[in-house]
Amino acid sequence: MTLDRRNFVLGSLATGVAAACASKKEASTASVATPGPATAAVAPRPARKTILVLGGTGFLGPHVVTAALARGHTVTLFNRGKTHPGLFPGVEKLLGDRDGHLEALANRTWDAVVDPSGYVPRLVKASAELLAPSVGHYVFVSTISVYAKEDIRSPDESLAVATIADPTNEDSKANYGALKALCERAAEAAMPGRVANLRPGLIIGPGDPSGRFSHWPTRLAAGGEVLAPGDGSTPVQYIDGRDLGAWIVRVIEDRTVGTMNALGPAQPVTIKQVLDDCNHALGDKARLTWVDAGFLEQHGVEGWSELPMWLDNKGDYLGFGTLQNARAVKAGLVFRPITETAKDTLAWLDTLPEVERAKARSTGIKPDKEAKVLAAWHARK
Ligand SMILES: NC(=O)c1ccc[n+]([C@@H]2O[C@H](COP(=O)([O-])OP(=O)(O)OC[C@H]3O[C@@H](n4cnc5c(N)ncnc54)[C@H](OP(=O)(O)O)[C@@H]3O)[C@@H](O)[C@H]2O)c1
Repeated sequence: MTLDRRNFVLGSLATGVAAACASKKEASTASVATPGPATAAVAPRPARKTILVLGGTGFLGPHVVTAALARGHTVTLFNRGKTHPGLFPGVEKLLGDRDGHLEALANRTWDAVVDPSGYVPRLVKASAELLAPSVGHYVFVSTISVYAKEDIRSPDESLAVATIADPTNEDSKANYGALKALCERAAEAAMPGRVANLRPGLIIGPGDPSGRFSHWPTRLAAGGEVLAPGDGSTPVQYIDGRDLGAWIVRVIEDRTVGTMNALGPAQPVTIKQVLDDCNHALGDKARLTWVDAGFLEQHGVEGWSELPMWLDNKGDYLGFGTLQNARAVKAGLVFRPITETAKDTLAWLDTLPEVERAKARSTGIKPDKEAKVLAAWHARK
């Protein structure tokens, strides 16, 4: 899959004031030593913050809101009232549209703003400039798709980002990564030194409408012979949306700024470790057959979309699954076990109405194609 194609999949599936920043913690300076496994120590309950979320009712936003409320903060949501309008009945909601209708944000102050719904720099600039005098801290949810290539192993946040010939081109599906990179710059330009640009990898777990990770627990739980990608040695990275939501709140509490990759786990894992662990946690019903990456390509099987979470790590993807996360870990990002995410994802899917459940399970290789490819793999021997 090309980088553009992956960006498209990522993009389309996803669908106090500065002067008071005394305790600001700079995370954007030179790289830090990679710490050992993150500990899950819970930070002491902080001073209450007022937090504005631009969006907040899709996939990641609710995890941020839930974590913020659990920590005693006061949350305000700003959105159009279209996506899951019934969520968070006790939370203040301001109606508006990022594109030209920010009036509801005027004459208000918050300690921090979280922006998970910015995809084009014009709109991030508009909200960041409007809020700059009245908000101390801007937390922009970016993506690792900002990177033009992942063609070296273990790159940190200094890896070159994608560019776009015409920055006024707002096709955020075709130019997802390049536009997100420009969004990061727009936020920083409006609020210099007061922005955290967080770059998550694949966000997984309950609430994920894209169904990408969901393919694996669903397929493993169904049992039988399962097509597994490559020789199993490919490193993979991901982040449970709940861990990301909790960390975003931690970033706000600590007033952390700078650019950070936001993905785990703490120690490198391979796709084989992940699938074996999940299979075991789900009752050992599946038999994994590892099929060579070249064979998959010959048979038109796409990594990332049909076999989620995995890409053949060569060429522009040589460093796939090896992005450094030391800055984020130093800033408090911790990770739950993948087995917990797998079990909770299945439990969440079971709560959905049938139509939504089918949609959330529709990603991943179709059963008939999987069977054909497995038969061809066995026949070649
Ligand atoms: N999924 C992944 O694997 C992945 C990986 C890396 C990075 N990311 C990033 O993670 C973030 C995921 O965000 P999410 O969609 O889950 O966030 P969210 O905040 O949960 O949902 C999007 C929110 O934006 C609101 N919204 C959309 N258009 C709007 C507009 N024009 N004006 C005002 N509000 C608007 C929606 O409500 P209304 O429709 O009611 O307005 C909704 O509340 C994105 O920034 C994505 O780039 C995702």
